[in-house]
Amino acid sequence: MSHEKRTILRVGLGGYGMMGGLYAAVVDNVNRYFRDAPFRAVKANAFVFSDEEAERAAEDGWTPVRSIDEMLENADYAYPPLPNAMHCSVALAAFEKGVHCFSEKPLAATLDEAFAMTQAAEANKRFLNSVNFIYRRSPATVYARKLAQSGVFGDMTACRLQYWQSWSASIFEVPLTWRFVEEQAGGASYDLASHCFDMLNYVTNERPRTVSAIATTHVKERRDLKTGEMRPVYVDDTLEANFALSGDAVGSLSVSRNCFGHENSHKFEICFERGTLAWCYDDLSTLWVYAADGGLKLPNGEAISRGWTKIDCNRKGFWNHDFADGHRIGYRDLAVYQLCENMRAIDALESGREYQSDAPIATFRDALEVQRCVAAALLSAKEGRRINVADVKATGEK
Ligand SMILES: NC(=O)c1ccc[n+]([C@@H]2O[C@H](COP(=O)([O-])OP(=O)(O)OC[C@H]3O[C@@H](n4cnc5c(N)ncnc54)[C@H](O)[C@@H]3O)[C@@H](O)[C@H]2O)c1
Repeated sequence: MSHEKRTILRVGLGGYGMMGGLYAAVVDNVNRYFRDAPFRAVKANAFVFSDEEAERAAEDGWTPVRSIDEMLENADYAYPPLPNAMHCSVALAAFEKGVHCFSEKPLAATLDEAFAMTQAAEANKRFLNSVNFIYRRSPATVYARKLAQSGVFGDMTACRLQYWQSWSASIFEVPLTWRFVEEQAGGASYDLASHCFDMLNYVTNERPRTVSAIATTHVKERRDLKTGEMRPVYVDDTLEANFALSGDAVGSLSVSRNCFGHENSHKFEICFERGTLAWCYDDLSTLWVYAADGGLKLPNGEAISRGWTKIDCNRKGFWNHDFADGHRIGYRDLAVYQLCENMRAIDALESGREYQSDAPIATFRDALEVQRCVAAALLSAKEGRRINVADVKATGEK
């Protein structure tokens, strides 16, 4: 690698599905929304799987290629939003070629792969290892983290984590894509519970210590588009879990892809000794705060009754961005901010500075611990017993 400070970051993209397609807009916008981004993002090669994907990628300004090696060839930074079972091999190849790696969640299809990725990342500390737990980028979750970790609310006592979607419900007749195949680590648990466990840790620094769960598969067969036949589905579409945290704190989690009325409803309520924080993606820049101490007083000294305060966090002073102050932001904006935050982390790495942020990226190590929680919940569901999360280890992990 050159010792001159880089000015551009060549982005290599793996896959041109939903997330891959979104990245064209992300790369286009990052330097407009974040004028202080340390590098200019440039589209390089996109690894595609069909002529149709190649056409779309080329229209969006990428050079379509048909192998991971070609994708990494002229990239400084790789983002491979591929089926979960492909994350590990791409990340290992990226580190081997000296390319920064931004991976999707869940980190991998198995705990063994997640561990291998984390080991590779930690053996190659010069390169970024970052995971797209994108809801870390909401200004409201950034503020929740600040409040929770300030200590003013006291210790955490309980939490409720939820992520409900409806797209896989039976009436939609969604075919048997990779999202429903065990080897690809499909299932609501991997897909949605991973976001919930990361969010809990991001906001509070807490992780489940023991977990007990039930997983169900409501839609038991889906059509295999290759053969036209109905085939059994082995992955869960709903997971309910309860867990113990540090001290006496406890929590529960509910994730499902079959809940009508919820397109993408990711939320938390976290209770502390002196208040509660509540957030829902449906109104993503709003944080609800209940301060049990109240604090506001009438001129005669009488305390105003305590209650919920609604805080619009998409304002300057809450987070460091160049979006229109006070105006609604959306998923794509979070993705743009994520790319900028990854650039800041890369800049720190390449300049030999410690990366510091009020809204830090999720590392492979963070995502490995999330994956351990998901694996523990699934083991509990399978064996019908409470699981000690720390006992769930990858092969060869101490
Ligand atoms: N962070 C988030 O908020 C978020 C949101 C959605 C998806 N994701 C993650 O991004 C990754 C990709 O998800 P997506 O929604 O873009 O998926 P997608 O199905 O829309 O796209 C998958 C891509 O992989 C390619 N592919 C290669 N082998 C395949 C195979 N065997 N079966 C199917 N496709 C194959 C497809 O051609 C396509 O380019 C997943 O890991 C998913 O969990 C993350």
